[in-house]
Amino acid sequence: MPEVIVVDRNKPDPRAIARAVSVLLSGGLVAFPTETVYGLGALALEPRALARIFDAKGRPSHHPLIAHVTGIAQARTLIDPWTALADRLATTFWPGPLTLIGHRSSIVPSALTGGHSSVAVRAPSHPVAAALILAVGAPVAAPSANRYQAISPTSAAHVLTGLGNEVDLVLDGGSCAEGVESTVLDMTSDVPRILRPGPLSQRTLQKVAADVVLAQEVATDDELRASPGLDLRHYAPRAKLVVAPNATVAVELAKQVLMRDEERVALMLWDHHPDAMAHVVRTMPSRAAEYARDLYATLHDLDALSVEIIIAQAVPKESEWDAVRDRLARASADPSRLLS
Ligand code: TXA
Ligand code: MG
Repeated sequence: MPEVIVVDRNKPDPRAIARAVSVLLSGGLVAFPTETVYGLGALALEPRALARIFDAKGRPSHHPLIAHVTGIAQARTLIDPWTALADRLATTFWPGPLTLIGHRSSIVPSALTGGHSSVAVRAPSHPVAAALILAVGAPVAAPSANRYQAISPTSAAHVLTGLGNEVDLVLDGGSCAEGVESTVLDMTSDVPRILRPGPLSQRTLQKVAADVVLAQEVATDDELRASPGLDLRHYAPRAKLVVAPNATVAVELAKQVLMRDEERVALMLWDHHPDAMAHVVRTMPSRAAEYARDLYATLHDLDALSVEIIIAQAVPKESEWDAVRDRLARASADPSRLLS
């Protein structure tokens, strides 16, 4: 198992940060907490260190990574030109869960961007992540610290279960407050478009950039397939997950699975339902931010409990629920496969 250092999330011990810096500078991999999910960090400008990330995750090398920076000054070394739009967004939302995609500068290695001409950059607000990037003095590439297409980790234990020996050092700063990955905004298209919904909703971004759209609503299927980060199945638990339109249908489906008596079934509801019955019943928070915070931890738990089918109640259609709705859709199986 890798070295694990427990750190105070608000006041990380400088010795722990120094240890992590030395691992990074020698080309190693450090898993660290951010406000969204745990990241698997390596030096962003060192192709050999980046190669280790792709190996550890089993991720195809054409999938671009996010460079994590201390703020606008460092971001400007990676994104060129640094536009007025980038400046407005970063000034308002950084440090925080917003990833900005712009044209890459000449110092950005192809290995970071998967060969694309654009680069993704964000300044995380988590004190441990911020301290680490500041101390290392260079951008840190960090995808979520999970195997390719598995659920992202929101605790150090999730990282150890998923990646174990692939990591050199884990900084354990407790669980992540947001619980889902950052909002990814592509600023290289005609209008800025959200490639991945996240903690900052379209409505929130529109307060600063009124024309922000959701990529899913404007792109053709071909464009979606060509765009990294928009492949449909992603973030899946081991269990087969099905989204039911409401709690009553969810409870009814669970009953049918129970009657068949073949698989262990879980219900994930955010409404109380008097007849809810399953091997495991999880009541999720009824507010979007709290549901998001608990989502991956719940899916990790249900996998650990050897649940085979998860029936989740669909979440509201409002903008603040976009990230949760997106992750449930990506994690889900075709409903027709449930009872076949
Ligand atoms: O919250 C987060 O963003 C976490 C924490 C660790 O910061 N990181 C994360 O990284 O989720 P990753 O690698 O799992 O997801 C990066 C996303 C992918 O959907 C990727 O396709 C997209 O960002 N992306 C990165 N560079 C891109 C580019 N140049 N063009 C389009 N999409 C890009
Ligand atoms: Mg990921």
